[in-house]
Amino acid sequence: MDAKRILLVIGGGIAAYKTLELIRRGRERGLAFRTILTRAGAEFVTPLAVSSLAESRVYSDLFSLTDEAEMGHIRLSREADLVVVAPATADLMAKMAQGHADDLASTTLLATDKPVLVAPAMNPMMWQHKATRRNVATLRADGIHFVGPASGDMACGEVGSGRMAEPAEILAAIQAILAPAGGRPLAGRRAIVTSGPTHEAIDPVRYIANRSSGRQGHAIAAALAAAGAEVTLVSGPVSLPDPPGMTVRRVESARAMQEAVEAALPADIAVCAAAVADWRPAMAAEAKLKKGSHQPAALELVENPDILKGLGHHPRMRPELVVGFAAETDDLLANAGAKLERKGCDWILANDVGAGSGVFGGARNRVHLLRPDAPVETWPELDKAEVATRLVARIAERLGR
Ligand code: C5P
Repeated sequence: MDAKRILLVIGGGIAAYKTLELIRRGRERGLAFRTILTRAGAEFVTPLAVSSLAESRVYSDLFSLTDEAEMGHIRLSREADLVVVAPATADLMAKMAQGHADDLASTTLLATDKPVLVAPAMNPMMWQHKATRRNVATLRADGIHFVGPASGDMACGEVGSGRMAEPAEILAAIQAILAPAGGRPLAGRRAIVTSGPTHEAIDPVRYIANRSSGRQGHAIAAALAAAGAEVTLVSGPVSLPDPPGMTVRRVESARAMQEAVEAALPADIAVCAAAVADWRPAMAAEAKLKKGSHQPAALELVENPDILKGLGHHPRMRPELVVGFAAETDDLLANAGAKLERKGCDWILANDVGAGSGVFGGARNRVHLLRPDAPVETWPELDKAEVATRLVARIAERLGR
C-alpha cells in the first residue's frame, strides 16, 4: 500500500511539542507528512525540528514566492489524503469556522477538498467559551473530525478540558479516518485474540500472576478490527479499557480463558498474546489462608491448559492462521523456533524480555517474526500499536481479500 499523505498544520500552542512526537510515531506507521507551521506555531517549535522529523520541508508563508512557485497552496491542500490540524488553537478554529484565508494555514484549510481532523488545544476557559462552542458546532456541522481535547492539568497551571489529545490517540483517529479508503482487507474474517496475564487463585484474595499489561494483545485486537475483522478479545485482568468495535470477554484464570476461546470458535485467525500462567495452585483454598493457622506450606502446583497449543492442534476447528508469542530471556530465535513446532502454530512473534528490555508493561516492543516459509523478519523497536499494525499487514497479505 502507498504511504498515506498527511498535511499537518501546526498551530501556535504549547502542545506543538507533542506534534513532533506525532510526526515521529506517524512515520513509524508509514505515514508521510508535509507540514505547515503557522507564525505562532513557529514560536513553540522550530521549522528545523519539524522538517528534520518529517524529512520534508516546512511551509510557512503564503506570500513567499518560492513556496508558491514550488508548491502552490492549492496543490499543498489537494495532494494529501488527510489534513490534520494539531494543535488547533481557538484562533485557528475560529478562522476555519468563518472561512478566513489570511495566511497559508487558513487559506489551505479553505482550499482543501480532503477530510480534516482537528486536535484542539487551549486553556479550559477558552474551550468552554460560547464563541468556541459555536465554532466547534459549526465545524462539526461542516464535517470536520475532532480528536480530544482531554481533561487534566494544563501547561497554563489550570485544570480542565482543553489539553491536546496524545499523539497515539491522534494517530488512532487518523487511521480510523483513512481506514475505509485503505480498504478493510480482513472484512468477513473472524479473529480471536488473547491478551493480558492470568490470575490463578491461591485463596479468595491471593493469586499467582505476571507483569503482562495486555497492551500488545489489545493493540493487535484493535488493528485486526481496524482491518475489518470480526474480533473476539479474550482478556485476562488488565487496567486497559475495552477497545471499541469488538466483543470482549474478560476472564481471570487460564482455564476460564481457554473456555472463552473455545466458545469463540470457529475463527479464521487466532493470535495468542496473553501471558498465560503455566501453573496454578492444585487447590484454591475456599477461605483466606491465615498466618497462625497454616504452616507456610509449599504451594502444590498443577499445569494449566496450553491455549495456543490447543488451537494449533485443534481436532475440529483449527483456525487457518494461528499466531503465538515467544517471550524469551535467552537463545531467543532457537527457543522461538522450537516453540513454533511444539505448539503447532503457523507463525511466532519472538520478543526478548530479558532484564532491562522493558517489554512487559512498557509501551514499546522489539520482535522477530518467524514463519516457516519465509526468512525471519527482525523489526526495529516500535510502539506496540505499530507492531500490531505490521503483524496485521502480514496477516492481511496472507488471508486478505
Ligand atoms: O510456552 P510459552 O508460555 O512460552 O508460550 C507462549 C505462547 O503460548 C504465547 O503465545 C501464549 O499466549 C501461549 N500460551 C497459551 N497458554 C498457555 C501458555 C502459553 O496460550 N498455558
